[in-house]
Amino acid sequence: MQTPLIDPYQRAITYLRISVTDRCDFRCLYCMAEQMTFLPKAELLTLEEMERLCTGFIELGVRKLRVTGGEPLVRRNIMDLFRGLSRHLASGALEELTLTTNGSQLAKYAEDLAACGVRRINVSLDTLDDAKFAHITRWGRLAQVMEGISAAKAAGLRVKINTVALKGFNEDELFPLLDWCRAEGHDLTFIEVMPMGDTGDRLDQYWSLRDLRRTLGERFSLIPLAERTGGPARYVQIAETGQKIGFITPMTHNFCESCNRVRLTCTGELYMCLGQEDRADLRAILRDGGDLEAAIRDAIGRKPKGHDFDYSRQQVAGQMPRHMSHTGG
Ligand code: GTP
Ligand code: 5AD
Ligand code: SF4
Repeated sequence: MQTPLIDPYQRAITYLRISVTDRCDFRCLYCMAEQMTFLPKAELLTLEEMERLCTGFIELGVRKLRVTGGEPLVRRNIMDLFRGLSRHLASGALEELTLTTNGSQLAKYAEDLAACGVRRINVSLDTLDDAKFAHITRWGRLAQVMEGISAAKAAGLRVKINTVALKGFNEDELFPLLDWCRAEGHDLTFIEVMPMGDTGDRLDQYWSLRDLRRTLGERFSLIPLAERTGGPARYVQIAETGQKIGFITPMTHNFCESCNRVRLTCTGELYMCLGQEDRADLRAILRDGGDLEAAIRDAIGRKPKGHDFDYSRQQVAGQMPRHMSHTGG
C-alpha cells in the first residue's frame, strides 16, 4: 500500500465524492436558479475518465466513494461507472460505493445499483406534501420520487432521507417526516442550508438545527450516539421510539476538524473543501499523461482548515458563488 493521503491538519482523506453531472431534472429553490447555464457536454469527463480517476484515489487510500451531481442518475450510461467501480468492492479495496440522489430515476435503477454492490443510498426529500414538493423543486412530482424510494427498498437498499431544514417551508413537517421514516424503516438526516450559489436570501431560508433539535427534545428524550457513517452527520436516538436522527450542522457546529473528504467535479476539478474555491485541474493531468499521484498529493497538501460560512451576525459571510450542484454537496 502507498502512503495514505494526509492533509496539512493531519486529517486522513479516505472519502471521495464525485459529481458525475451538473445537470438535474429538478431546480430546488435553495439549490439552483430557475435558468441555469449547464456545462457543454464536451467539457465533461467521460465515464471512463471518471473511473480512472476514482481508481487512482482508491489506490491512494480512499475507502468510501459517493456518486453525486446534479442528479447522478440523469447522466447517460451511468450504470457503466457503477459496474466499473464495483470491482473495487469485490477486491476489498473499497468499503462503500454509494450515491446521493433526488430519487426521480430510482425506480429505473434501484436493482442495477444493488447488483453493483451499492448497499445504502441517500435520497434528498424536503417535504411529504405534493404541492409543496412541486413548489420547492419547481416542477417535480412527489409520487415519482416515492415510487423510486419504494423500488430502492424493494431492491434491498438501505435508504437515508436527507432533508434541508427550511424556515417557513418544512418546520411543520418535522414530526410527519419522522413518523413516515420510522414507518418505512428509513434513516433521516437534517441539513442546515449553506450559502452556496445565488438563490435568494439565505437568512430567510435558514432554520438552525439547534432550534430543530430543541423542538424535538421538547417531545422526546434524545440520546447522542457516537456512531458515524463516514460523513459529517452526527446522530441521536429517540429514547421513546429507538429511531435514529442525523444532523448535518455546518452553520451551528462546524465539523471541519474531522473532515475526511475531497470532491471531484464532472469536469475533473478536485475541490479540497466545499466552502472554498481552491481546486486542482486533474482533467488536464489525466489527458496530458501527467503524474496523477503527484497532482493529487500536491492538492491534498493545500487542503484548507475549513469553510468560512457564517450567519451569526445576521448577515451572510463566506458565501460561495458556485452552486452546490457544481461540487455535489
Ligand atoms: P453518509 O455517508 O450517509 O454519512 O453521507 P454524507 O453526509 O457524507 O453525504 P450526503 O450526500 O448525504 O451529504 C448530505 C449533505 O451534507 C451534502 O449535500 C452537503 O450539503 C453536506 N455535506 C456533506 N459533506 C460535507 C462537507 O464536507 N462539508 C459541508 N460543509 N457540508 C457537507
Ligand atoms: N445548503 C444545504 N444543502 C443543499 N443542498 C443543495 N443546496 C444546498 C444548500 N445550499 C442539498 C440537497 C441535497 C444535497 C445533495 O445537497 O438538498 O440533499
Ligand atoms: Fe470538509 Fe470543507 Fe466540508 Fe469542512 S466545509 S467538512 S473542510 S469539505
